[in-house]
Amino acid sequence: MLDKVGEPGSSKATFYELLGGVEKVRELVERFYDIMDTDPKAAGIRAMHAQDLTEAREKLFMFLTGWTGGPQLYIERYGHPFLRARHLPFTIGESERDQWMYCMIRAMHDIGVEEPVMVQLGNALWGVADFMRNQAGEGK
Ligand code: HEM
Repeated sequence: MLDKVGEPGSSKATFYELLGGVEKVRELVERFYDIMDTDPKAAGIRAMHAQDLTEAREKLFMFLTGWTGGPQLYIERYGHPFLRARHLPFTIGESERDQWMYCMIRAMHDIGVEEPVMVQLGNALWGVADFMRNQAGEGK
């Protein structure tokens, strides 16, 4: 079943549905930024963000809602995300990518995402995180 996730026109469940809808996406993002804000392993990427994470939380929530197959909240509000271009001002290498993924995997685990969904969604997000890389190797 999971190999059909995200297939256009498919009647199979989307990640949005597998996670449990809008409230779970919100919970995931809240947990993700709570971890980034407090775990020393994510200090490098935390320092790139504004002191106040309210806007980052809201934008990632809106983006991931649409990206996982739910309502396109981010696009309706802000238009095309141009995600890679928006990340160009930040130095993102393997270390930053891995810190981002560390927060996301921990967040999925903490909110009780089932193992097979965690693996599939983790792999898909790793692809996006790796695409954000604008430095070869370790970054700075
Ligand atoms: C690979 C490591 C990544 C790093 C270091 C990183 C870092 C950042 C930073 C510093 C911001 C600006 C936040 C602020 O204004 O305080 C941002 C914005 C954002 N990031 Fe990332 N990010 C990463 C990966 C990702 C991934 C994988 C996604 C999506 C799956 C994502 C989605 C977003 C979104 C939607 C925004 C808001 C864009 C806007 O301004 O409209 N990021 N990111």
